[in-house]
Amino acid sequence: MLDDRLRSVLQRLETEDAAERERGLPPAERSRAVARTTGQFLFGLVAPQWDCEVLEIGGSSGYSTIWLAAGVRHFGGRVLSLENDPAKVDAWRANIAEAGLEEWAELIEGDALETIPGIDDVFDVVFLDAEKDDYEQLFQAAREKLEPGALVVADNVLSHEEALGEYTAARQNDPDLESVTIPLDRGLELSVILRSA
Ligand SMILES: C[S@@+](CC[C@H](N)C(=O)[O-])C[C@H]1O[C@@H](n2cnc3c(N)ncnc32)[C@H](O)[C@@H]1O
Repeated sequence: MLDDRLRSVLQRLETEDAAERERGLPPAERSRAVARTTGQFLFGLVAPQWDCEVLEIGGSSGYSTIWLAAGVRHFGGRVLSLENDPAKVDAWRANIAEAGLEEWAELIEGDALETIPGIDDVFDVVFLDAEKDDYEQLFQAAREKLEPGALVVADNVLSHEEALGEYTAARQNDPDLESVTIPLDRGLELSVILRSA
């Protein structure tokens, strides 16, 4: 599941991400990967599920994708990752190949707001990790691809509480969802779909 090849890519990406933050590069030039413990949490969420279909919105250089793809491969699932920055897309493809996960992870290049409606699939888990101002619209777009029992995990709800407070409140006040904030790393909002919208 977590072999040496994959672990060494994760380790390199963690080192690169830390160096980018240390150098104070602007966000658009950084990978902005999730914390390692969030990666482990995502892995733990998907690993026990059979045929787990994951939609990742904001793939960047592939760090979180690797955790998700490593999780789903044991029981036959896959990860569909969405990314609109061409430099990140190139890095994503190289990193996924280096980790040996091409069979379990696929990327669609382009603005997720435009690409999601064209995806002919339903998903069990959505990982939302794009620009905070777009979370609401991205959630609504992704919800069209979800059935009762599906889970949406949104990152940064505590680190960007001001920008994402409305997102969290909307999810927690929606009677068609069961939603809880998990205070892990930058804060994850976990929302389970109870009824179709
Ligand atoms: C915080 S980073 C994702 C980090 C990644 N999940 C990880 O942990 O390795 C956000 C990424 O979302 C991408 N992004 C932002 N808005 C997007 C959109 N509308 N469609 C597709 N990708 C988008 C950015 O280019 C950036 O690479």
